[in-house]
Amino acid sequence: MALRPYIVGNWKMHGTRAMLSEARAIGRAAARYPDVDVGIAPPFTLLHPMVEAVPELAVGGQDCHASASGAFTGNVSASMLADVGARFTIVGHSERRELHREDNDGIRSKAEAAWTAGLSVILCVGESAAERDSGQAEAVVMAQLDGSLPRSDGAVTRLAVAYEPVWAIGTGRVPTVSDISAMHSAIRARLVAIYGDDGKGVRILYGGSVNAGNAGALLRADEVSGALVGGASLSAESFAAIISAANTILEG
Ligand code: PGA
Repeated sequence: MALRPYIVGNWKMHGTRAMLSEARAIGRAAARYPDVDVGIAPPFTLLHPMVEAVPELAVGGQDCHASASGAFTGNVSASMLADVGARFTIVGHSERRELHREDNDGIRSKAEAAWTAGLSVILCVGESAAERDSGQAEAVVMAQLDGSLPRSDGAVTRLAVAYEPVWAIGTGRVPTVSDISAMHSAIRARLVAIYGDDGKGVRILYGGSVNAGNAGALLRADEVSGALVGGASLSAESFAAIISAANTILEG
């Protein structure tokens, strides 16, 4: 892995305060591997309690609104995330794209709002099963990047991209290592085309059914600098095994 590994848990709509003990256990595991960056994106309600309970972990949002404040019932802004100690936010997750009809333009605005608020951004992209089957996977992902990557100046060091094929999320199915390498290499080329040399430093995470058993192989694929983990991040035992797999690769 050429870049510093980054392992992020996306808790989705899982977790009440009872889960803070799991987060503490993840924090203890992360402390054993100082060369791996570890983050958790819990539901909004757990952000502040988690920042307080596990200050050594990077805690982040799963989404943010593009505006700083306003009449947007039910939404949370990037500056509100920053206010409670979040360090990053995910934007453009396929569950948001699909269930909340988010489009590339809106996702780009969210990413730029997050940068303005001082947060790091994890931008998710990925094709559906039908798009993969019809040979359009790469074109779809490139179009998502072109449309949703933030373009404000000077903050590219606060960007990561997560490649998450929709058909691999929560299904137990994963692409082959060579398909992951091909897609990640294409994403890298696009990042360099857009950001110049800064694009070489953007970490590209793989997401979709990463678990303790497959992490070692997936993290070894070309241009993979970490993982965005859903289900397996809800248990400290499996998430710690994924962090440890990233560390093992570093040790070569
Ligand atoms: P999964 O989810 O690891 O449960 O497949 C990943 C994600 O949606 O970020």
